[in-house]
Parts: sequence; C-alpha cells; structure tokens
Amino acid sequence: MSPRQRVLDLRHAAPVILPSLLLCDFGKFAEEIRAVEAAGAQALHLDVMDGVFVDNITYGMPIIAAANAASDLPLDVHLMIDNPVDYVDAFVDAGADVLTVHVEAKNPRAALERIRQRDAAASLAINPSTPLGEAEELLPLCDMVLAMSVHPGFGAQEFDPVALEKLQELRERRGGELLLEIDGGVNAGTIARCTGAGASMLVVGSAIFKSPAPYAESLEQLNQLARQ
Ligand code: DX5
Ligand code: ZN
Repeated sequence: MSPRQRVLDLRHAAPVILPSLLLCDFGKFAEEIRAVEAAGAQALHLDVMDGVFVDNITYGMPIIAAANAASDLPLDVHLMIDNPVDYVDAFVDAGADVLTVHVEAKNPRAALERIRQRDAAASLAINPSTPLGEAEELLPLCDMVLAMSVHPGFGAQEFDPVALEKLQELRERRGGELLLEIDGGVNAGTIARCTGAGASMLVVGSAIFKSPAPYAESLEQLNQLARQ
C-alpha cells in the first residue's frame, strides 16, 4: 500500500491521537516510540525545524529514518523549514507517510505537488495568524490540512482557539475530502473542542511526554475525551 493510502485510511480510525516526539527522551528514542506504540498510538508526529522558518532547530532525515526503523506506524512529518520542496524526496525516502509544509514557507505549491508525485500524503499547515484564505488555492492539492493552535517552534505552549474556527470552516466546505489535523496545546482540557470542531488528527506532545501518568493512561484519557 502506498504511504498516501495508509494515511487516507486513518480516516476510518478517527479520532487519531498522534504523539509528537518533540519532547520525548531522545536518549532512548526507539524505546520511546515503542512505548507510545504499545500504549495505543496509531501514528507518530515528528517536528522538523530548521532555525530559519522557526526560532528552533530539531532534527532531520536520520531521525525520521530511525523512527521508521523502530515502528510500523504511519509517520506524520511536520516540516517547519523555509524551503520544503528541496527536501521532499529526502523525507519520503527516510520513511515519511504524510509530509506537512507550511503555507507561509517558500513555494508550498511545488512542495505539495512533489509530495503527491511521490505517493505520500500531502498536507498544508496554517499558522494561527494566517487567514485561511491564503491556503485556498492550494487546498485541491492537499490530503490533509493542519490548523496550528500555537505559533510553531516549541512544545508546551498555550492553545489558541483560532484554529477551531479554521477547522469548522474546512469541515463545512471540504470535510469529505480532507483530513483535518490540529497541533499545539492539545491536552485533556482542549481535545474535546478540537474534535467538536472537526479535527480527526490530534497532535499531542507535552500532555503525553511531560505528564507524570503512564503513556497508556494519558492516551486512554485523551481518546475518551476526544470521542465525547
Ligand atoms: C510545535 C510543534 C508541535 C508540538 C506540540 O511547533 O509543531 O507538534 O510538539 O507540543 P504540545 O502538544 O506540547 O503543544
Ligand atoms: Zn508539529
């Protein structure tokens, strides 16, 4: 099955909680991945930051390849990089199933087209301060849209409900054809509003990796709240 089809099939598993590995213990990266997989995660979210598009640097292709080697789960790779089209092939080769590029980055159209050519799922992220209208003409190239509920760059920031308005509008207009994802500040206090607004893909970082509860307990609680 193509990476794109694996991602499109997640629609039937919705709501899907995607642990964001940004705040995991990188000293035991493969163990962390196996632990969230054993705890019931159905996909993984990986944040790539280049220090140019956002004020932070994380990791690149080798870490995606390591995640791919450690797990069979679909990999949702969120590119917070300035010129994503230059790296689409490298990230698909490393094992990305869905690649998300930002509408605010350089040439998102070429990146989305290349992702589709590679038979991975194409996704477009929109920052809280960017109006949905700026993404409009790119939507036909997308399998998924990611409404950011924090300004990207760091985990454990406060949830910005502006993302919910974007999701509601997208659900009304294109809910049948697009997967809808939300990322940033999603936790036990906010997750029900996210699914209520139409999100089927819920990225959760600190509420899993910085919680004192075991991963399975956090995922179970988040799942229940997401289904309310
Ligand atoms: C932020 C990243 C998020 C982050 C989410 O730029 O895109 O994926 O890891 O972390 P929390 O859930 O802590 O906001
Ligand atoms: Zn992210």
